[in-house]
Amino acid sequence: MGPTAFVTGATSGFGEAITRRFVAEGWRVVACGRRVDRLHALRAELGDAVFPLELDVRDREAVMAAAESFPEEFGPVRVLVANAGLALGLGPADRADLDDWDTMVDTNVKGLMYSVRALVPQMVAAGGGHVVTIGSVAGSYPYPGGNVYGATKAFVAQLALNLRADLVSKGIRVTDIEPGLAETEFSVVRFKGDAEKAAKVYEGVEPIRPDDIADTVWWAVTRPAHINVNRIEIMAECQAFGPFQVVRS
Ligand SMILES: NC(=O)c1ccc[n+]([C@@H]2O[C@H](COP(=O)([O-])OP(=O)(O)OC[C@H]3O[C@@H](n4cnc5c(N)ncnc54)[C@H](OP(=O)(O)O)[C@@H]3O)[C@@H](O)[C@H]2O)c1
Repeated sequence: MGPTAFVTGATSGFGEAITRRFVAEGWRVVACGRRVDRLHALRAELGDAVFPLELDVRDREAVMAAAESFPEEFGPVRVLVANAGLALGLGPADRADLDDWDTMVDTNVKGLMYSVRALVPQMVAAGGGHVVTIGSVAGSYPYPGGNVYGATKAFVAQLALNLRADLVSKGIRVTDIEPGLAETEFSVVRFKGDAEKAAKVYEGVEPIRPDDIADTVWWAVTRPAHINVNRIEIMAECQAFGPFQVVRS
């Protein structure tokens, strides 16, 4: 079997599609997430190329241990896809739930930070690798209610650039992929299980699909070795930029 990708958030959406794509291309995947039943279902479906690893990326010790918690034949990891993340709520800053803000920072910022710190040393030791972070257009463009979610994704984009600055001489490539409107379980999570409200987000539009992002990740990691794709911003064709807000008296 081929090289190994370590994919966080492999239980649904982009991470699941990325796992499927890499396995289809002959890679092994250490597939991580909290919903371990889904990881085992992936293993049952895709076979020995998948190693299911129960992991909450907010748990610093667990993430550091995870870098060594897979069978020897899976190591060293060639590609880390730091994908696990979420948005919670869409309330304005004066009413947003502070626990939601904490969870987004703990997952999208600190969880991603731990994942990178845990996996990059084995890439350095192996003399090469590729870190793919999943940011968002929300990290570049503000929208009402995007407050802390967008800020966490701005962190992701900047960390990706700074990682590249640190790792340039070590054969390790870094790419931040920044999707726009995409249909996954993202909105069900954002609206805390309200499937009806989540479905409305995708009503009458053709959003990005998980396979589109899997394709983009695969493209970025299969560029010739002398190229580094720094960042890719990708929107659904139906999506563009909002107007500036002007409040008139
Ligand atoms: N969909 C969009 O419109 C969109 C646009 C731009 C960027 N993104 C970003 O894309 C990434 C993937 O999201 P998605 O759209 O594919 O949503 P999704 O279907 O809800 O998938 C999110 C994944 O993240 C995992 N996750 C969440 N919290 C975790 C934690 N504490 N520890 C480990 N894993 C955790 C979930 O696994 P478990 O719950 O099983 O742990 C799940 O596998 C996120 O970083 C998101 O911010 C999404």
